[in-house]
Amino acid sequence: MARVPVPGRGLTLLGIETSCDDTCAAVVDDARILSNVISSQASAHARYGGVVPEVASRHHLELVNPVVDAALAEADLELADVDALAVTTRPGLIGALLVGVATAKGLAAPLRKPLIGVDHLHGHVAANFLEPDPLEPPFVCLIASGGHTLLAGVTSHEGFDVLGQTLDDAAGEALDKGARLLGLGYPGGPAIERLAREGDPAAFEFPVAMSRDPGLDFSFSGLKTALLYTLRELDSVELERRRADIAASYQAAVVGQLIAKLERSLTGGDWAAVALGGGVAANSLWREETVALCDDRGLRLKLVPGELCTDNAAMIASAARFLDPAPYPEYLAWTAAA
Ligand code: KG4
Ligand code: ZN
Repeated sequence: MARVPVPGRGLTLLGIETSCDDTCAAVVDDARILSNVISSQASAHARYGGVVPEVASRHHLELVNPVVDAALAEADLELADVDALAVTTRPGLIGALLVGVATAKGLAAPLRKPLIGVDHLHGHVAANFLEPDPLEPPFVCLIASGGHTLLAGVTSHEGFDVLGQTLDDAAGEALDKGARLLGLGYPGGPAIERLAREGDPAAFEFPVAMSRDPGLDFSFSGLKTALLYTLRELDSVELERRRADIAASYQAAVVGQLIAKLERSLTGGDWAAVALGGGVAANSLWREETVALCDDRGLRLKLVPGELCTDNAAMIASAARFLDPAPYPEYLAWTAAA
């Protein structure tokens, strides 16, 4: 039987991530990324205006083996050279997750390699532990993407505390749905950001939800409804004239809520740094406002590169470094959890 590696110590890991619409594999040697291959399905979902689960599963099935091969080739390694495999087992689209879990089991078992099951959100947190310049706990990590909005309190490498999360739509989902109402393309976040540059963020007053709520949870579905009502009140000429103002005001409301909750989470906690993650972290307004917030409070701000913000397998391998590997054949009965 292959040796069972000790968590956190100089492991070479092959990570696999298929929880949503990106097919990803990466090889990570301790905290160093040797390869990080991401095959985005965005164009396959664009015509539907959002991710279609069955389409995602089918694409993962086709892409996962070539993507794994590319990650190993880029790292100049064979499968036999890695100490263990790591795979996202939860949460996500169930069919999409199952492709990754079955693939990881199928690759690990014949070589009797250990397997490590990783929570996708722990992966987003663990993107910050990678070279160069890894971030050490304690820090607050705000992850905002099309699927999740999570404020995580990170005091160890092994996991995180949920300080707050969305009660309905995710922040990126709010931007995607808003963009759709405005007749912009998918993904909506970048489209809204582009249009917002020409608009006045104070022109329309959209509610910054939960701002009076003392907790750290988020809510974005009311914002989308407010946008719908605003659009209904404008005739087509006026709508065309004010589109940039609406986009700017809508973006400001989404970012306003992210910043308000982040700021509140920092009050009273003993945090040394802030990290952002998820696709929405590409947003310039959110970044600028977080820079200002951290400057004000004398906190370090960690912004990982874009390819580590969005879904990727290097972050999954990074989280796996700190978890107990399951030896063969323990993991053969594993499944995924939506
Ligand atoms: O992490 P990600 O690539 O995929 C998952 O949803 O897991 O995040 C995609 C989300 C989409 O909702 C997209 O609209 C949003 O990130 N996004 C942005 C920007 N770029 C991507 N939101 C705001 N501003 C951006 N520049
Ligand atoms: Zn994600």
